[in-house]
Amino acid sequence: MSEHTQVEMTEMKYGKDRPEAKHRLMIEDLSLRDGHQSLFATRGRTEDMIPVAERMDEIGFWAVEVWGGATFDTMHRFLGEDPWERLRTLKRYFKKTPFSMLLRGQNLVGYRNYADDVAKLFVKKTVDNGMEVFRTFDALNDFRNFETVVPVIKECGAHFQGCICYSLTEPRIGGDVYNLEYYIKKAKELEDMGANSICIKDMAGLIAPYDAYKLIKALKDNVKPLIHLHSHFTSGMSPMTHFKAIEAGVDIIDTCMTPYAYRTSHAALEPFVMSLLGTNRDTGFDINALADINEILEKEIMPKYKHLLDDTKVSIIDINVLLHQTPGGMLSNLVNQLREMDALDKLDEVYKQLPRVRKELGQVPLVTPTSQIVGIQTVNNVLFDTPDERYKMVTAQVKDLCYGLYGKTSIPIDSEVQKNALKGYDRGEDPITCRPAEVLEPELEKAKEEIGSLAVDDEDLIVYALFPVTGKKYLMQKYGKEQVPESVKAITLEDVAKQDAMVAKLKKGELIEKAKSEDIPEKSEYARTFNVFVEDECFEVGVDEVGGAPVITYAAPAAPAQPALVAPAAPIAPAAPVAPSVPAPAAPKPAPAAKEEPKEEPASAGTPVSAPMPGMVIKYEKNVGDSVNEGETVVVIEAMKMENALPAPTSGVVKAVNYNSGDPVAKGDVLAVIE
Ligand code: CO
Repeated sequence: MSEHTQVEMTEMKYGKDRPEAKHRLMIEDLSLRDGHQSLFATRGRTEDMIPVAERMDEIGFWAVEVWGGATFDTMHRFLGEDPWERLRTLKRYFKKTPFSMLLRGQNLVGYRNYADDVAKLFVKKTVDNGMEVFRTFDALNDFRNFETVVPVIKECGAHFQGCICYSLTEPRIGGDVYNLEYYIKKAKELEDMGANSICIKDMAGLIAPYDAYKLIKALKDNVKPLIHLHSHFTSGMSPMTHFKAIEAGVDIIDTCMTPYAYRTSHAALEPFVMSLLGTNRDTGFDINALADINEILEKEIMPKYKHLLDDTKVSIIDINVLLHQTPGGMLSNLVNQLREMDALDKLDEVYKQLPRVRKELGQVPLVTPTSQIVGIQTVNNVLFDTPDERYKMVTAQVKDLCYGLYGKTSIPIDSEVQKNALKGYDRGEDPITCRPAEVLEPELEKAKEEIGSLAVDDEDLIVYALFPVTGKKYLMQKYGKEQVPESVKAITLEDVAKQDAMVAKLKKGELIEKAKSEDIPEKSEYARTFNVFVEDECFEVGVDEVGGAPVITYAAPAAPAQPALVAPAAPIAPAAPVAPSVPAPAAPKPAPAAKEEPKEEPASAGTPVSAPMPGMVIKYEKNVGDSVNEGETVVVIEAMKMENALPAPTSGVVKAVNYNSGDPVAKGDVLAVIE
């Protein structure tokens, strides 16, 4: 081990012909998946990957990540692209470098556990289309959620990379749950499952440099597979962390090409290549070849995406990750939800209660979807609990977690909280202890029947099985049964040039005449007005999105385990933080802000069931004329992708039901009346 625990200078030679390092550091490039997922809401198009593909193939990467995570969802939903076609296309350009993907265990590339038959077919078809490395993770680190996919990965001859989600309960590695022993135990479980490599997946950038050193060294000493580190830049620690990991002997690290690097993405590759040049961990990469790729990206590709960058902040580091150990996306979700409820002043209270709620819910790692589940439940507790009753408003996802539908939590869920959450739960009040997918019925045959001849092959069938609503819509477009909306079409460099010219005109004050001389489209009811300040002047600008309602930018996907309860048309944003300017052509509903006129309330008596938060009506459990007991669920509303069952405040008969499923509601709207 000791020979790998230090970076030594060997021979100082900078050319391409320099001798191979004793323990060459291997690199996986993430630009074409996690890079644009982290920075540009996964909006990268295949046509913008081709110009650099052949050059990237020459670099000598251990693998390139090109698929998985949110790509499958975003491509068919927002880009009008067939996710399978991207694999086949890129494969024609990457002839030597293996392809890698992020597989969310039994969640595949979606947000809930799919049945075993879907999972098996998915892996098989993915290999058929060119995938070679399956980076597989589970939000709870419950590796029973790997049991279906891993044998298929192995049978197909692909590389199984097992991930351990990196989590903390203290500022640094240690404590009673996420200590060194925990990670070593998990690594041994993966080794026993036949992992070809083991990846520490640090999605929030929490791992500190000296902890990485300790952890990587311990893993190298205890398990045989290659050790791989995936650590996001978010907190700013990652380049230092990677460097200590390199000193500790890590085999592979993840980086991005410079234009796809930093912020919530990953450290850039080029500084590592230079820093390690001539050492026993030299990557062997040609820095000039990397510079050529960067030039193409910078000049020909990035201008088409820069409008998606979150430019509201100057700082590229999220200091809150360091302070509160909460992933960046989770934090912005909390702030947005509190703002919607006019309760931003409660943020400190949420921070204070978060560790308690997380502990009661089994000290789960905070990664999508568990970070949203814990975060939103904490907000509910802070807003709705009373001194003598906690967990007054439990989300459906917390109920699923308590039932065991996500898997086994790191420590047992608090038994009081669990019992309370499962009261009246439709799958039963006794939690399961088996592998979650065992309670799921097969799904493929049903999907086949539903989609019929619109699915031409298994690949189409999978698109539909994973995403029934948006997947079907995409297939209709793919086969010419529905027109491809303008909004999914790519923007070109010419479009960018036109926009830049507009901004220049705006600055010169020429834009007003231009607008008058042309046909002005009708202003919709969703138009918003902004003041735009240009030096000393101020322009009032109306913004009205073309081709769709505004996306709910803060909404992160949950893992709905009960398909029946999920609003089919809910706009699910990708896992990455979404830049506010991202268009959402598929969002079928206006944001809650654009709600309709409040329904007239009857002047006569009756007890209202009011919305405690803005959101969307999922379904009514009771209809007009039904009798209801106090505490029984009357209506389920969705807020922040979490479902909240609203109980009857009193016993009686339902006299009025004021909304339909799918309707947006504001805080205080009367959803039903009981008399
Ligand atoms: Co990542």
